[in-house]
Amino acid sequence: MAPLIKVLNGPNLNLLGQRQPELYGYDTLEDVGKACAEAAKSVGLRSELFQSNHEGALIDMVHAARETSVGIIINPAALTHTSVALLDALQTFVGPVLEVHISNIHKREDFRHKSYVSLRADGVIAGFGVQGYALAMQRMSILLS
Ligand code: DQA
Repeated sequence: MAPLIKVLNGPNLNLLGQRQPELYGYDTLEDVGKACAEAAKSVGLRSELFQSNHEGALIDMVHAARETSVGIIINPAALTHTSVALLDALQTFVGPVLEVHISNIHKREDFRHKSYVSLRADGVIAGFGVQGYALAMQRMSILLS
């Protein structure tokens, strides 16, 4: 079976497509999951998408990924800017970690300019819309080759 990439999504991303579409667009998280699966397949990988509104559940997913996955693509959503605990969990993961933001967080409020997750991420994509996930998958395949 192809190596697995976990695609983790933080709080409120379950509402993608309905939530502030002027910022995040009209694609749903299900659309993102399909795009990731296609992008993964095209580079010989496999992807599994997960979303939670709960910090601890995301941390548990990172821990589970240690056993099952060769890479993590993560949009931590608001936890990007607040969660030392999620950063600490990601620091335990061996393998590439790529951070994705649908919007350009640097063009937004000051509090969004700081990312704890970036202290671990091997790369960051921001402001490319949901296309950022597929781009991250391409980069993942290069980092793993
Ligand atoms: C986000 C940006 C975050 O600041 C915000 O809290 C989100 C989504 C993005 O994808 O652009 O929920 O991570």
